[in-house]
Amino acid sequence: MLILGIETSCDETSAAVVQKLPSGKLEILSNIVASSEDMHAKTGGVIPESAAREQIKSIIPVIKKSLTSIKLSEKDIDAIAVTTGPGLIGSLLVGVETAKTLSYIWNKPLVPVNHLMGHIFANFLNDNSPQFPLLALVVSGGHTDMVYLKSEREIKYIGGTRDDAAGEAFDKCARLLGLPYPGGPSIAKAASEFLEKNTGKIFNLFPRPMIDSKDFDFSFSGLKTSVLRTTESKNMDKYSKEELATEVQEAIVDTLVAKSLKAIEKYKPKSFLLGGGVAANSRLRKKLARGVNSRQGMMQPSLHHSGNVMRNLIHVPEAKLCTDNAAAVAAAALINYKPVNWKSVSVNPELTITSKF
Ligand code: KG4
Ligand code: ZN
Repeated sequence: MLILGIETSCDETSAAVVQKLPSGKLEILSNIVASSEDMHAKTGGVIPESAAREQIKSIIPVIKKSLTSIKLSEKDIDAIAVTTGPGLIGSLLVGVETAKTLSYIWNKPLVPVNHLMGHIFANFLNDNSPQFPLLALVVSGGHTDMVYLKSEREIKYIGGTRDDAAGEAFDKCARLLGLPYPGGPSIAKAASEFLEKNTGKIFNLFPRPMIDSKDFDFSFSGLKTSVLRTTESKNMDKYSKEELATEVQEAIVDTLVAKSLKAIEKYKPKSFLLGGGVAANSRLRKKLARGVNSRQGMMQPSLHHSGNVMRNLIHVPEAKLCTDNAAAVAAAALINYKPVNWKSVSVNPELTITSKF
């Protein structure tokens, strides 16, 4: 089965063709992403109106390229999948209205996809597929959600942020430090330069709120206030921008890792999945791996007899599949194939991770 995925929830316009092989394995045939990120870097963040205008310019060329670059046409695809939310309403509308039109004129089934499920199911594009029951932590620009999935369709909310999302914390702190948008990659770059020169020199300058709370909730808004206080204080000269970026990254990563390890110990899932733009952060990937390896005894017993715990337990999409992309949307539709009549599909910017269509 071949699905054409369409994703336009924010500032990326993406179309992809993903195939489900008879073995159940998913294979990406094309994954085209056009981003208006450079334009938003000039204003220090996404302006929704401008993002939607860029979506309109890119949508048709991107869809065309996703098919022609692999010498396919609409006749070859079996269905269309599209992100219906959460996201920016203007951007979402471009993808959803295009997908509905194509579903009607090409006479193809249409599968609405929750953006956040796309981030989770991007992990099924890896060679080594995750297994249920699984735990997933979605960390993106707008969301920080921990969920337990007994199967593809049975999802339970475990915890999430009470204020800012992890990616939002990266973006806002980067802005305070004078680093360019998007803040996550800028902070990661500055931090890796600092860590290369100053091995292991971390002072825990910033707070890690709720790190010891018994629940699986997060709070990142205090971090931004603390960074603001530091940048306004006379002490600012004591620290380089790179050092402060390192401290911000460490505060966010430590909190995400601590809660992930605690959730793994409690729920003992067969797989633990990271997804969303922040999952591209190499420090997060490294510290999570290190944390799991050092606490193997407390994890799922079957996993530490089978050799490579990391390979079996922790799943993270390759970096370009962590950020918004249509292959992840097609993957979600192939794993949970629920086509509906195009007339019943509509945009829902407020969709939550557990919302049913
Ligand atoms: O999933 P995504 O592409 O879009 C949303 O659904 O929001 O995530 C974007 C977020 C931004 O906040 C961006 O700063 C963050 O992911 N991000 C990163 C990295 N790459 C992207 N954060 C930390 N480290 C990265 N390498
Ligand atoms: Zn996203």
